[in-house]
Amino acid sequence: MKHLAPRLIFILLASAMTDYAVSSDELKAGAGSEIVSQTCIPCHSLKLVTQNRADRQGWLSMIRWMQEKQGLWQLGENEDKILDYLSTYYGPKKSFRRAPLPVELMPPVES
Ligand code: HEC
Repeated sequence: MKHLAPRLIFILLASAMTDYAVSSDELKAGAGSEIVSQTCIPCHSLKLVTQNRADRQGWLSMIRWMQEKQGLWQLGENEDKILDYLSTYYGPKKSFRRAPLPVELMPPVES
């Protein structure tokens, strides 16, 4: 039994570290992060916030969904600040694909 403890500790540490790499409990520092953490932490981990990406409209619809289904209260004048923060720091992932070529640069179509 004695030799089991180090292994157990290793497994616990390893899983904690993996978890940390995937999503964070801490919001990125920036204007409005205080309001967001105070508003969003009463019901669930901030991981749910940090693992999501959306534009302003997307964040607004998540907030509306929580208001309709999950008992989230009206956010009043903070709503704008919260949306500013979320769409700035957790906006849509940038795509690394280049834009499509303009038609005049495309190779001619064989007929
Ligand atoms: C009144 C409680 C409550 C508050 C406050 C709250 N939420 Fe939620 N939220 C929920 C519940 C309940 C869920 C669903 C949790 C689950 O699926 O495990 C959820 C889920 C989410 C999700 C996941 C949605 C998805 O589609 O996966 C995001 C993102 C989220 N909340 C963001 C926020 C943000 C940002 C705030 C602060 C502005 C916030 N929440 C405040 C109750 C709340």
